[in-house]
Amino acid sequence: MKERLAALAEAALAAIAGAADPVALDEAEKAWLGRKGELLSLMRGIGALPPDERAAFGQAVNAARARLDEAVAARREAFAAAHLAAELADTRFDPGEPPPPRARGHLHPLTQVRREVEEIFLGLGFDVVDGPEVETEAFNFDKLNIPAHHPARDSQDTFWLENGQVLRTHTSPVQLRGMLRAAGRPPVRLIAPGRVFRNEQPDATHEHTFHQVEGLMIDAGVSVADMKGVLALMLERLLGRAVEVRLRPHYFPFVEPGFELDLRPAGSGGRWLEMLGCGMVHPRVLAEGGLDPAAVSGWAFGMGLDRIALTRYAIDDLRWMMSGDLRFLQQF
Ligand code: DAH
Repeated sequence: MKERLAALAEAALAAIAGAADPVALDEAEKAWLGRKGELLSLMRGIGALPPDERAAFGQAVNAARARLDEAVAARREAFAAAHLAAELADTRFDPGEPPPPRARGHLHPLTQVRREVEEIFLGLGFDVVDGPEVETEAFNFDKLNIPAHHPARDSQDTFWLENGQVLRTHTSPVQLRGMLRAAGRPPVRLIAPGRVFRNEQPDATHEHTFHQVEGLMIDAGVSVADMKGVLALMLERLLGRAVEVRLRPHYFPFVEPGFELDLRPAGSGGRWLEMLGCGMVHPRVLAEGGLDPAAVSGWAFGMGLDRIALTRYAIDDLRWMMSGDLRFLQQF
């Protein structure tokens, strides 16, 4: 056994010394020193020795192993040193060159637009608030004066949960939560950005999940003129250019009067673009929010954020927004 050990160590040392590259070295190490290697299989024969020789043999194996491990480590270092020397000798390697830039993420185009809207309204003294994405039927519909027979309540448009709640179909229920939080004491000035959900067949202009921002301002003597002024200011800042806005009467159950607001670049005489829905908060909605319609008035608006981002970046399909596709995202 002793002689076999010596021969084995000799052969292993030769294999290590003869390894031409790091891969060959790894293979030699595995073959001689690995779990299924030669050295261990020799060690397993220890039981065949007379008991009084076993300890000495075990020590001899361990000593051989230590020598071989050292030889492997030394050879590995030699390879690394040679590699480094080759790199340094290569005149194309410039140790003074700055490292390549680290890959950095950036904000989603929708997040960029949302944050801009938030900045604008924070500057006007509005709060940015959050509301639940799973809503009660009461908050999503009834308390917003959307009657039971209204087509928007049809299961075509709304995701109903088994417990009778809904995935909110708009951010408008956050109006009510904001009013109730004010506990009868105006003013209320808030915006509420967030995800909304509709049971839609997705196509280039429809998604089951999209984004809105709701706005609400309530105080004594608040008028349509205040609303038009604030909304025009917001759109001007958001689009970075002077704009003309026009209010076109439109029915939304939770406002009276209600409007759609259209916009075009100032002085362009061009086509009007529909931007958002707005109006004076319906007295019933004020009452549901715990406010006295005889004492206060307010205006509200709801705007699609995806639409703004699509327009701004000339994106042709809404479905890109939630795609998570890096080929899309890395363009912004
Ligand atoms: N909730 C409406 C929608 O999703 C948008 C809207 C219209 C919100 C008028 C408002 C408003 O606050 O006053 O289509």
